[in-house]
Amino acid sequence: MSVVALVLALWELIENRFFRHLDYVTLHYLYITRGIAVSMLLAFWAAWFVLRERKEKEQQLRLSSQRYRAILDSSPSAILLFDQSLCICECNAAAEHLYGYTPGELLGAFMPTVPPERATELQELMSQVRLGTPALEVETQRRTKTGQCFDVQLSLLPFRDPGQQEYFLEVTNDIRERVRLRQTLLQIEKLTTMGQMAAGTAHHLNTPLASMLLRLGMMREGKYEGSLQADLERLESSMLFCQHFVQQLLRFSRAGQWQKQPETVAATLQAVTGFLSPQLMAKRIRLSLDLDGMNGVRVLADRNQLEALFLILLSNAADAVGPDGSIRVRCGPSREQHIEVQIADDGCGIESEVLPHIFEPFFTTKPPGTGTGLGLAIASNILQNHGGSVRFDSAPHRGTTAIVELPLWQETGAGPGGKS
Ligand SMILES: Nc1ncnc2c1ncn2[C@@H]1O[C@H](COP(=O)(O)OP(=O)(O)OP(=O)(O)O)[C@@H](O)[C@H]1O
Ligand SMILES: [Mg+2]
Repeated sequence: MSVVALVLALWELIENRFFRHLDYVTLHYLYITRGIAVSMLLAFWAAWFVLRERKEKEQQLRLSSQRYRAILDSSPSAILLFDQSLCICECNAAAEHLYGYTPGELLGAFMPTVPPERATELQELMSQVRLGTPALEVETQRRTKTGQCFDVQLSLLPFRDPGQQEYFLEVTNDIRERVRLRQTLLQIEKLTTMGQMAAGTAHHLNTPLASMLLRLGMMREGKYEGSLQADLERLESSMLFCQHFVQQLLRFSRAGQWQKQPETVAATLQAVTGFLSPQLMAKRIRLSLDLDGMNGVRVLADRNQLEALFLILLSNAADAVGPDGSIRVRCGPSREQHIEVQIADDGCGIESEVLPHIFEPFFTTKPPGTGTGLGLAIASNILQNHGGSVRFDSAPHRGTTAIVELPLWQETGAGPGGKS
């Protein structure tokens, strides 16, 4: 602008100095020439100004896109942007590095990083994202250019460009090391459990076996503790304990290979209490079943395991109460979509220092040769595999309530016959 003003001022000076005496027509042409010159000058200036602004904006845009590219490339996660047809439109350096592709090779390819067996899973995740729920931290597998599959954790997010076209943003992290560590930990846990099992088994079987051998030796020499009959009965009871122990161990190790189908909880409880009634009657234990409103309520469970679960809890209650004691089984709705079964006894209760240990395998407060200490460990395994839980509410010398919670089965839910 100031250049235009300067030119106009100069023009005015020259005109006054040299062209003042010219005739009217010449002066007229001079004015026209001045007008054209000024307009052209202004037009040039405007064009130059616009061009300069545009260049600056372009430079800023270039810098900004370079910055975004650098941010994308500095991300440690592999990032792929693909469209509905799985065609990759953008990827970062981490993605090329993770999947073993050279720069630019992934662009335009149709998600070659998804193993064929994971294609359906990706389609399901895409449908979920389309419905508005991003898929976060999904553990799955991807494959490299050489076809090697590996474990990853990925998030799939929706992405829309300014033209409103729909894309998917896959952000992936390599979790091979994490999975390896997890497996090592699991292995260590298994070995520790095996060690504990071996120690517990040896401890539990050693005492009855030693006493049986001692008794047999004495009987062979004709020495009896009581009568022959009484000693034989003692031998039999020790053998029965060993048999019970081995059966419990088998149950414990077999956990996980069950056939699940919808089971009626009330019917299962009635069957188990019916089975236990001779023992309860022998101890004159009163049993009350309060299954009001739960008739027909079902859970997805393995029948044998569900029976074993209630058998374990009822046996513990029966062991805890003295003669003439009472056990009350109540059944009712729990939090949403769950059923609650309470087995309450008025027995010896559980001391507070004992309570934290009752689920440990081989933990028992019963005299040697009677309790295996595997009952509640089995019960907690069963519940874990059925998505349930158990907690104990106990007051020493007043009684204990075992509260079992199980997810309800609904017609529309998972189908029956599932193997877990
Ligand atoms: N209802 C209860 N009342 C009092 N103590 C209980 C009750 N239920 C469990 N316990 C305590 O928990 C311990 C562990 O129970 P668990 O069923 O695992 O083994 P156990 O009953 O000792 O042996 P087994 O089940 O082979 O007879 C018991 O020894 C007992 O001390
Ligand atoms: Mg028990």
